[in-house]
Amino acid sequence: MKILQPTDEAIKFAARALQNGELIGLPTETVYGIGASALNSAAIRKTFDLKRRPAENPLIVHVTSLEAASNLVSSIPDAARKLAKAFWPGPMTMVLPKTSLVPDEATGGLSTVAIRVPMSPVALAILFESGLPVTAPSANMFMGLSPTQADRIAPEILSGLACVIDEGPCHFGIESTVIDCTGSDLTILRPGAITRRMIETLTGLKVSPAAAEERRSPGMYRRHYAPKTPIRFVEALGPFDAGIGFSEPQSKYQFQLPKEPAGYSQRLYSTLYSLDQMSRLQILVESPPDDPEWEAVWDRLKKATGT
Ligand code: TXA
Ligand code: MG
Repeated sequence: MKILQPTDEAIKFAARALQNGELIGLPTETVYGIGASALNSAAIRKTFDLKRRPAENPLIVHVTSLEAASNLVSSIPDAARKLAKAFWPGPMTMVLPKTSLVPDEATGGLSTVAIRVPMSPVALAILFESGLPVTAPSANMFMGLSPTQADRIAPEILSGLACVIDEGPCHFGIESTVIDCTGSDLTILRPGAITRRMIETLTGLKVSPAAAEERRSPGMYRRHYAPKTPIRFVEALGPFDAGIGFSEPQSKYQFQLPKEPAGYSQRLYSTLYSLDQMSRLQILVESPPDDPEWEAVWDRLKKATGT
């Protein structure tokens, strides 16, 4: 059995696998990732092969603290220091200028590197135990749904992992906020649980939303995070529709999610996964509120619908 409970022994096993250049299933508070040593080009290449991910789509490097990343990044602007202090460990990734220690394979040849300090106790324990920075893309096939629990990792991915450490369902359920900190302004490349408003309030800077900047994050393809079943927005679910709504379900093909973005995000991918397993003709999703607090949910739903 590759899925291990998070005992000290399992954490040591995972850390050793990373040191040996193997891949592991890394739990985090956002989604499960495929961990590899960020200092090992061959291990990073294996990650891309396993996910069938295009090589130009860069990875996030996970570390235990901003200090632990000091030899990976060549400069840290004041705003980035403030963000790190406020939101790390947590569901936030910052893009910063990289040093030559970061292999080109990790960054798709870019001169920048994405860094995150996760808050999952198991992820942190593995990072500390291995003593390595760890690249970890979400543990799904390219363009698929990110797994938010260990047993939702696809068999094709699982076959390439030395182990998965099971930390239960992920707390946030959608990927981290990615912020480009390399310019004079901050830009959100991917919205997440750390919202634009939180970043603006903390830094006093104007933060551009993701949409206008699509080309700058190579991973921001229009269709992404998608189930196999076609999915589209509706005003309200009808009695025979399969999908996600805000009201009492009318059949077993309907799922009611909370009318509040954190609770909705936490269950979004696992609900889409369940609906996908039901092999209906289409998945309908009631449009969430048109409010900035729902930006990350809108982003993932728009990518799932390809709109
Ligand atoms: O929550 C998360 O961030 C999860 C967990 C496992 O930590 N990881 C994750 O990784 O979502 P991935 O590879 O699925 O998404 C990484 C995103 C992509 O959109 C990628 O383009 C962007 O981060 N990214 C990475 N490095 C970048 C860079 N140097 N410049 C711009 N965007 C970058
Ligand atoms: Mg991903």
